[in-house]
Amino acid sequence: MSKNTEQWSSKLGFILAAAGSAIGLGAIWKLPYVAGTSGGGAFFLIFLLFTVLLGLPLLLAEFTIGRHTQKEAVTAYRTIAPHTKWHWIGRLGIVTSFLLLSFYSVVGGWILIYLFRAFTLNIHGMTPDQFGGMFQETIANPALAIFAHFIFMLLTILVIQMGVSKGIERSSKIMMPALFLLFIVIVVRSLTLDGAMEGVRFFLLPDFSSVTGETVLFALGQAFFSLSLGVSIMVTYSSYLKSKESLPKSATSIVALTIFISILAGLAIFPAVFAFGLEPTEGPPLIFIVLPAVFSSIPFGSVFFILFMALLLFATLTSAFSLLEIIVASITKGDETKRKKAAWIAGLLIFIMGVPSALSYGILADTLFFGLTFFDFLDYLVSNILLPLGALLIAIFVPLKIKKTTLFEELSKGSSIKKVWFNIWYVLLRYIAPVAIIIAFFHVIGFWDYLNRVLFRIF
Ligand code: PHE
Repeated sequence: MSKNTEQWSSKLGFILAAAGSAIGLGAIWKLPYVAGTSGGGAFFLIFLLFTVLLGLPLLLAEFTIGRHTQKEAVTAYRTIAPHTKWHWIGRLGIVTSFLLLSFYSVVGGWILIYLFRAFTLNIHGMTPDQFGGMFQETIANPALAIFAHFIFMLLTILVIQMGVSKGIERSSKIMMPALFLLFIVIVVRSLTLDGAMEGVRFFLLPDFSSVTGETVLFALGQAFFSLSLGVSIMVTYSSYLKSKESLPKSATSIVALTIFISILAGLAIFPAVFAFGLEPTEGPPLIFIVLPAVFSSIPFGSVFFILFMALLLFATLTSAFSLLEIIVASITKGDETKRKKAAWIAGLLIFIMGVPSALSYGILADTLFFGLTFFDFLDYLVSNILLPLGALLIAIFVPLKIKKTTLFEELSKGSSIKKVWFNIWYVLLRYIAPVAIIIAFFHVIGFWDYLNRVLFRIF
């Protein structure tokens, strides 16, 4: 089997592309609404702890697998543990990416519609209520939602068929920094609205009385979702990285950037939610109602609205690229002549898979799976079960199948890593991560409730 022929042209390119995968709807759209419905500051704090204590070590673990083998996800596991079933971790990642991208792209479609609106609509003086109505109309329209989802997938396919360094890297270098800058403008406006402080308090002051088992599970899922972990995307991305680059440094920058954007998103949204008298429990529509309302209250709001939607679209696209890339790379296995065809076939199948999600807020709103709409069901399955499961397997795989000395060597390339840090990483990965994830899983299968009932009967 050949080595990868694709390579990042610079370390910055790799960091931006990996950060581009990480930063997307997770930090900007999902975190605020999940925090809003799951207790605000307490959720955010738990999310931060998981991101640093579990997310960062797992990110490094995925990087180590990828760079050590220089192979895409499935082949990488096979190279380390030949003739075993471990490569199913890669397969699981591919199935998860497939499902994830199918509904991710639906939200990408909503953003496209809003970008188009941003050009044509005069938002000046519109009320949050009107924005709410507009959002409901948008997502309930079946033809529009499907069409927009299709266009989003089309854009993703077009970039991925061009290949990694030309397509992904070049665009990330310009747009990621622009996204940071624009966010700062929004945060400043949001924080200076009357009554903004209540939102800051809601977002940053933890109130642990609202924490339930569900909060902890969602925070764990959110931490993995935000860093694109558990699907071996970071294995594939780091396989394109030269060995003179330092993995710990790259991983730390990516986690820091993701946390930074998450904080900016929260500070952009919650102050405005409270200032406008809205509810933080709005759910998925939250940013589509709150941010336009912020823009309608500032000078040149329409221009900022266009810019923001364009950058949000970009952040969403760079994550979508990584999701399609891992699938395509597992088909081409380094044979670039197959890239085009693989991108089109996989992309179109994902589009079809996403159709029921696109209809979930319209004609399929009442068709429920385990009490959830198709869209919410897929999101729950992916975020709270498949991503943590993938992460759990990776946390078990790395210490079990790669020698400690080899791991140390791989992490020391590019710049030396202190033995203490290495040992902390190793303990977090080998012991803490699996235990934490398994405890969260017990929650999913209702084990804690069961235990409670049994104990109640005994005593
Ligand atoms: N990290 C992306 C986001 O936050 C989503 C994602 C998850 C992408 C898993 C790839 C893999 O939007």
